[in-house]
Amino acid sequence: MNIAVFCSGNGSNFQAIADSIKRGEIPAKIALMVCDNPEAFALQRAKTERIKSLLVERKNFRSKAEFEAEIIRNLKRENVGLICLAGFMRLVSPAFIKKYPNKILNIHPALLPAFKGTSGIKDALDYGVKVTGVTVHFVDAEMDHGPIILQQAVKINDDDTEESLAGRIHQIEHSLYPRAIKLFLEGKIKIEQRKARQLK
Ligand code: GRF
Repeated sequence: MNIAVFCSGNGSNFQAIADSIKRGEIPAKIALMVCDNPEAFALQRAKTERIKSLLVERKNFRSKAEFEAEIIRNLKRENVGLICLAGFMRLVSPAFIKKYPNKILNIHPALLPAFKGTSGIKDALDYGVKVTGVTVHFVDAEMDHGPIILQQAVKINDDDTEESLAGRIHQIEHSLYPRAIKLFLEGKIKIEQRKARQLK
């Protein structure tokens, strides 16, 4: 299946997915990397991996609808059947989600529903929880909300800094996201209302 990965920054999850595909672990091809930030290192990674990338900047479009229409045009051209948001710093609209129902995944650096939003690692540290983690979930119209596919816990140590904790969280992300994508592609996830059950 052709998949697309959406990034805005470093793209380490994009890299992890590409590496996992190269190792033959995921039956897919990254047909397109979509990026909304010209400074993103993810663009360099795509070049190195010889993966096609689409740079779309919101400021170059009159409306969010036109911005998304350009993305959708490209996804269709590449025959994309699964979208993986990986550090994409924009909310996709309900209209976009309707075009790809239960075909958009996201990775979040906390154990949802705790610490939603763009600073999940710092928020967990500041709150003083002893355990946080990583969540891979389907995207629905609410932010960081759709059915959860996989979660993995990460312990917080008393001497953790945002950097040290982020390092361990990213490490988990890089194995958890490919695993979730594999489950999806093998048809092993069944959605029942807000629950994503794993089939044997
Ligand atoms: C990850 O921590 C992910 O959970 C969050 O954004 C970050 C993206 O990192 N959604 P990268 O660009 O994949 O390195």
